[in-house]
Amino acid sequence: MESDLLSISFAGLKLQNPTILASGIMGYSAESLNRVAKGGAGAVVTKSVGIEPRFGYSNPTVVQAEGALINAMGLPNPGIDVYSEEIRFSKTVLRVPIIVSVFGYSADEYAVVAKKAVDAGADAVELNVSCPHVKQTGSEIGQSPKFLSEVVQQVKAVINKPLIVKLTPNVSDITLLARAAVEAGADALTAVNTLKAMAIDTETMLPVLSNVKGGLSGPAVKPVALRCVYDIHEALSDVPIIGCGGVSDWRDAVEFFLAGASAVQIGTAVAVDIEVFQTINRGVEAYLRKKHFGSVKDIVGLAHHK
Ligand SMILES: Cc1cc2nc3c(=O)[nH]c(=O)nc-3n(C[C@H](O)[C@H](O)[C@H](O)COP(=O)(O)O)c2cc1C
Repeated sequence: MESDLLSISFAGLKLQNPTILASGIMGYSAESLNRVAKGGAGAVVTKSVGIEPRFGYSNPTVVQAEGALINAMGLPNPGIDVYSEEIRFSKTVLRVPIIVSVFGYSADEYAVVAKKAVDAGADAVELNVSCPHVKQTGSEIGQSPKFLSEVVQQVKAVINKPLIVKLTPNVSDITLLARAAVEAGADALTAVNTLKAMAIDTETMLPVLSNVKGGLSGPAVKPVALRCVYDIHEALSDVPIIGCGGVSDWRDAVEFFLAGASAVQIGTAVAVDIEVFQTINRGVEAYLRKKHFGSVKDIVGLAHHK
């Protein structure tokens, strides 16, 4: 969908519209990413990729909760060398930017994977420093301003494409991490990854997920994610923020823009309807016209002006 009302640019990326596929929902393949792009997404983020192949956890890896999913996939991925071929192929098929999500177990690993992703054609890199269910990566790094800063600096030094840092909500003050990421060189922030959670089966009397704990996503997390975006925009009004968590319809997207997000990522809702991007874009456009705004950019952060 092309519309001047919806087109945005941030951190050097130009998007036809502000809806982006969140990491992990449609995997890696060029084919599935392209289905999402055809469903109206302005950009796509790949599932997180690491330096070596990982099988992830055994089943069950996903369980439903009230208005939400809890997942502990364990970052299954084929490793960056195999995945680089898919990135190259994706670039020949996709008409929207491809953002490659990267994880590692050290700052060096993050830098190696990010550089390979960019060499293969990634338009931007998103650092997954926020996965709540894999030890020694993800949120263990993203909960420490010092580690986070090291990772961001090392990655920034080896890539020449926009660097997006995806933050964890599992901290007492997300603005401290946001500031550390920006001071270390992040060009934009995604807020947020999943909330640490679990479910227990009353019959077996045991945790449902094989990994015991996982990450909560979907409509139930939206108010938390929205508060995180609001807090970050209040603390750091210049940094572009991508809101993520529970976006299912155009009202959710508009709430994130008003809180200070320049774009939104959509994950769980895509599993229900792959055309959710198109539907949300139409709704946001109608809202902007009704309220007499010329661009979605004009409503970013307006909730702070009360
Ligand atoms: C099944 C599943 C797999 C996910 N895998 C990843 C991943 O590999 N990397 C990552 O950064 N986030 C991953 N996430 C988190 C999403 O990208 C997103 O941050 C989160 O689900 C909140 O958005 P939502 O409520 O729209 O789903 C995953 C989420 C789900 C549900």
